[in-house]
Amino acid sequence: MGKQYYTITYGCQMNESDTERINGQLAELGYTEAPAMEAADIVILNTCSIRQNAEEKVYGKIGEIKRMKEKNPDLLVGIMGCMAQENKEKLIARMPIIDFVLGPYHIHDLKEVVTEALAGRRHVVRTRMNPERVKDYSELHAARKSHIFAWVPIMQGCNKFCTYCIVPYVRGRQTSRTVEDITGEVRQLAAEGYKEITLLGQNVNSYGLDFRDGTDFGALIRALDEVEGIERVRYMTSHPRDMTFAMVDAMAASPKVARHMHLPVQHGDNEMLRRMNRGYTIEHFMELLSYVRQKMPDIVVTTDLITGFPGETEEMHKATLRLLREAQFDSAYTFIYSPRQGTPAARMEDQIGDDVKHRRLQELMDVENEISLAKNRAMEGKVYPILVEGPTKQDESRWYGRTSGNKMIIFPKTEGVFVGDVRDALVEQGQTWVLKGRLV
Ligand code: SAH
Ligand code: SF4
Ligand code: F3S
Repeated sequence: MGKQYYTITYGCQMNESDTERINGQLAELGYTEAPAMEAADIVILNTCSIRQNAEEKVYGKIGEIKRMKEKNPDLLVGIMGCMAQENKEKLIARMPIIDFVLGPYHIHDLKEVVTEALAGRRHVVRTRMNPERVKDYSELHAARKSHIFAWVPIMQGCNKFCTYCIVPYVRGRQTSRTVEDITGEVRQLAAEGYKEITLLGQNVNSYGLDFRDGTDFGALIRALDEVEGIERVRYMTSHPRDMTFAMVDAMAASPKVARHMHLPVQHGDNEMLRRMNRGYTIEHFMELLSYVRQKMPDIVVTTDLITGFPGETEEMHKATLRLLREAQFDSAYTFIYSPRQGTPAARMEDQIGDDVKHRRLQELMDVENEISLAKNRAMEGKVYPILVEGPTKQDESRWYGRTSGNKMIIFPKTEGVFVGDVRDALVEQGQTWVLKGRLV
């Protein structure tokens, strides 16, 4: 039996995408994917630092791997992703069972580092931020899981420095891939039969601004519109600050751009937004939102919220509850503020206690769940084209697909319907998180 790898991904879609390229490198070394961690010759954790609980999961997993390594000293263990960048040498000092630590800019080095580790060179740490590497992204073979959907990173890093966020420290400054490089990859994907791509960046709306030559996200959208074979273009995440009305026009003009926008607002109070360094006001956000909905009336808008940010009063919290009712998001990801070492908010004095944070989180979720349910119920009796994704995890006889707005519709498995087909689905029942229906 050949050698096998097992990679575990934590965190955002950018990490999901990086994992495919990590696995691609291992495949080039002759490894195949192990069915379970216990069967692997190399285990890689592609880690996330966004919140404390994300890091704790990784430390727990390393404990598990340590026991595996006691039984099998030849097992190779690598830590990659954002915790690798954040903790550098400290990881190995604390946990010497780790054989190598590679930051997000070092996927290119993986083959060399693994080859050397097999020859006995352990405890390698590479975390230099090298923006040049972003240009060579397409050189990295990606072992993609799906043959229909593909992640396409369009940029790396972030310049926004929201006061709570660790991303600018672990992913470095914003560096965009060129329009030619991205369209080249997408054309290739189309030729291979991919139907849907998701453009990835911390702030897709800042795409291209680092070139300082007029390139922006709107220009990329227009260029991708011309690639034949791709049915849908998704993108994540949008930042309210750099999203211009012209960009919204470019999205609205493109029939391929999915009618879903993930637009994190984070909070409903202007003083909180200022302390978070978000760079917009609620008034601006609402104006943008109404323009987006005016241009694309069928658009599904989702958001992120942070509760319990330092200094958040009961009044400020109520402002977020009010915002939810006003903005009518289709869904909201709500997070309890987690202090990240080295960020300005972690040093702010008026930190909020855990009990209050949990109560506020629950209140936000209660309000939003009601709205999500009402929105999904309003879809009952209507027909939506969906891109068929295949059987649900729980039940082989029930399949699902997604609308352009990224809503999941579950339907009974139907003769002659295949993964990747675009079919019309009638919504029969809207629930908080999913819709149930049948193909028509
Ligand atoms: N670039 C995206 C967000 C990426 S992080 C944007 O600016 O919108 C994804 C989400 O994690 C953020 O939207 C925020 O809601 C949450 N988040 C980031 N740092 C956090 C922290 N320290 N504590 C709690 N939630 C956090
Ligand atoms: Fe973090 Fe803000 Fe950058 Fe988003 S925009 S990644 S929240 S610093
Ligand atoms: Fe986490 Fe890094 Fe993404 S911190 S959310 S994996 S960019």
